Amino acid sequence: MNLLALDPAGLGPVEAAMPPDDSAVRRPPVPLTTAEQALANIVSPVTWSQFLSDYLGRRPLHVSGEADCFASLADPAAVRELIEAGVPWQFRRMPEMYLDGYRVPHEDLVDTYTDMDGREARRPRLRRIRRLLEKGATVNAFGQESHFPGLAAMRRVFSEAFHAECEVATFYSQQGHQGLAPHYDCVDIFVLQLHGHKRWFVSSQRVDSPVVGHGGPTQYDDQASHTDIVLEPGDLLYFPRGTFHQAVALSEQSLHATIAVKRPTYLDMLMALGQTAAESDRIRHDLPLAHARAPRDTKDQLLDRLREALDQPGFDEAFERLLTLRSGH
Ligand SMILES: [Fe+2]
Repeated sequence: MNLLALDPAGLGPVEAAMPPDDSAVRRPPVPLTTAEQALANIVSPVTWSQFLSDYLGRRPLHVSGEADCFASLADPAAVRELIEAGVPWQFRRMPEMYLDGYRVPHEDLVDTYTDMDGREARRPRLRRIRRLLEKGATVNAFGQESHFPGLAAMRRVFSEAFHAECEVATFYSQQGHQGLAPHYDCVDIFVLQLHGHKRWFVSSQRVDSPVVGHGGPTQYDDQASHTDIVLEPGDLLYFPRGTFHQAVALSEQSLHATIAVKRPTYLDMLMALGQTAAESDRIRHDLPLAHARAPRDTKDQLLDRLREALDQPGFDEAFERLLTLRSGH
């Protein structure tokens, strides 16, 4: 395997970091779970602990893998057949279609109607979809795990290893055509190149810890330095949330899967606290009359009460429930 670690400044490839020197602190190694071991194999020769300490949430990583290691997850002919039949438009989350950086609006691709039971239903516009495909469009489809069980297994592995909500998407794209315009995502992205070749531009420009609706938007800076990577079948590309990127297919057809990992944040803890804080009579208590004159004291009292609420088992249960719901465990 060839390893290419990406320079955080985006100034080009640099040698992979050496395994961390743990001679100062000798601790017995904690055995990896099955899911962690599966991901350790994917990021190898970077070790799992090195990936967690040096890359996760910090900087991009490109690993060249064996050409056939992801090939069985899905194949481009089957994916194209499903797209031409309109199947991805039946899923809860509709697919996205792009042509050279332009996102085709959903209403151009589906007709909505009321079915016999009075429910809203949708019917994909197959001729329009096929015409766009002939022009070289990219299709980013969700929910394809039901057709490709290997993708479902991969999603479970990521979800267990990161204890986080994960979503798998397939990207079918065609030679010489760019899919999405330069953008960043609010989740960490793992790209698995299944078939064909794709050229990626990973920018040094990064938005700090964005979540949907907060922490952005930020204009793309096309003058920022970037790393130029050609993904081949079996390659992995990782980049943290907030990293600007764009890609163009180099082969007649390119198929990659992304595993988007929505890692828990402090904001999530705050939301879980919001769900449980109202159970505390100390938090439902009236503010002191003097709160307007001494807001600092009142804030300190609130912090004391929030700390108490954080220590309640109800909070731990609410937070665990939030993560479990989102990760689909
Ligand atoms: Fe993206």
